[in-house]
Amino acid sequence: MFEAFISGTGSYLPERRLTNHDLEMMVDTSDEWIVQRTGIRERRIADPADATSDLATRAARIALKEAHRSVDDIECIILCTVTPDTYMPAGAVYVQRALGATRAAAFDLSAACTGFIHGVTVGTALVRSGVYENLLVVGAETLSRIVDPTDRNTCILFGDGAGAAVLSRSEPGSSSRVMDSYLRADGTGSCLIELPGGGSRRPATHESIDAKQHFLRMQGKEVFKFATKSLVELIEVALERNHLVPDDLAIVVPHQVNYRIIEAALKKVAIPLERMLLNLERYGNTSAASVPIALHDAVTEGRLRRGDHVLLVAFGAGLTWGYNLLKW
Ligand SMILES: CC(C)(COP(=O)(O)OP(=O)(O)OC[C@H]1O[C@@H](n2cnc3c(N)ncnc32)[C@H](O)[C@@H]1OP(=O)(O)O)[C@@H](O)C(=O)NCCC(=O)NCCS
Repeated sequence: MFEAFISGTGSYLPERRLTNHDLEMMVDTSDEWIVQRTGIRERRIADPADATSDLATRAARIALKEAHRSVDDIECIILCTVTPDTYMPAGAVYVQRALGATRAAAFDLSAACTGFIHGVTVGTALVRSGVYENLLVVGAETLSRIVDPTDRNTCILFGDGAGAAVLSRSEPGSSSRVMDSYLRADGTGSCLIELPGGGSRRPATHESIDAKQHFLRMQGKEVFKFATKSLVELIEVALERNHLVPDDLAIVVPHQVNYRIIEAALKKVAIPLERMLLNLERYGNTSAASVPIALHDAVTEGRLRRGDHVLLVAFGAGLTWGYNLLKW
């Protein structure tokens, strides 16, 4: 078996900022409420001319450069998203076309906020088994296109963005590698976060649009409990399965969802807040993009050193949850 390691990361955040004060003009909310309940101060909103693949392509170009790989080295593109440009074809083919990655296979992976973790898990298996030498895993979202701007329960939480990683082959026994991955699902919680309309169950009709079924819906309190519980479980399982203690983790990159969720989880696992990579204040929840954006932040801020144990953890609609443990 070969090993797979992350040879480069990248991210792209749209320029337009939607602040809590902007939201005060749109719905009955306040900056104080949003900051206290979530920790979010602003989020980015994609230019109307851009679709998810445009954000994904920009993040991917940076990851390729950082990885010292050319477009021709890329043999597969996995786009993790719940907001593809179109349902058919897959959003990944637009990234493939825009990059000019003519050698690459391209497909979408849908696991909501846990999407990037699934992408790294699948990509690692493809690299380790010798199928590909270099592939791109991109988490990208334009959630502003599926959020109801009049629903204060959701419109304050979500933002747009993209993050990318190049996964590359290294020789068996290499130190720098994806050490372990863990994925879980519980479909009995599917109604807790959902976009009910537009699929085969409820195809788009005038009525479905009038009923706002093309917008994301969420039962916030229930999701909060699930998120806290799964964050604790993921950290505990990662430590146990890999015979590590909390101090062995140089950094934890959690799905950027709500400061209170992170805080509640940290009361149960002995990891200091400084070791959590947090940027939700600036970008809000960008679903599948949130972990790779935060990972790229950790790289550019110089917070990762060779040999560090880095834990990526995420949870979200499905319900789904999972982690990737990396040796940097
Ligand atoms: C959404 C969330 C921030 C709401 O916080 P909360 O503390 O659970 O708040 P509640 O839902 O209990 O609402 C408390 C009150 O604030 C109100 N409220 C809800 N959103 C509000 C807003 N944006 N501004 C002001 N008030 C708001 C509610 O209507 C409720 O009022 P009521 O008591 O008069 O009914 C929180 O539940 C959360 O973060 N959940 C997880 C969401 C998430 O992470 N989703 C993605 C997972 S991948």
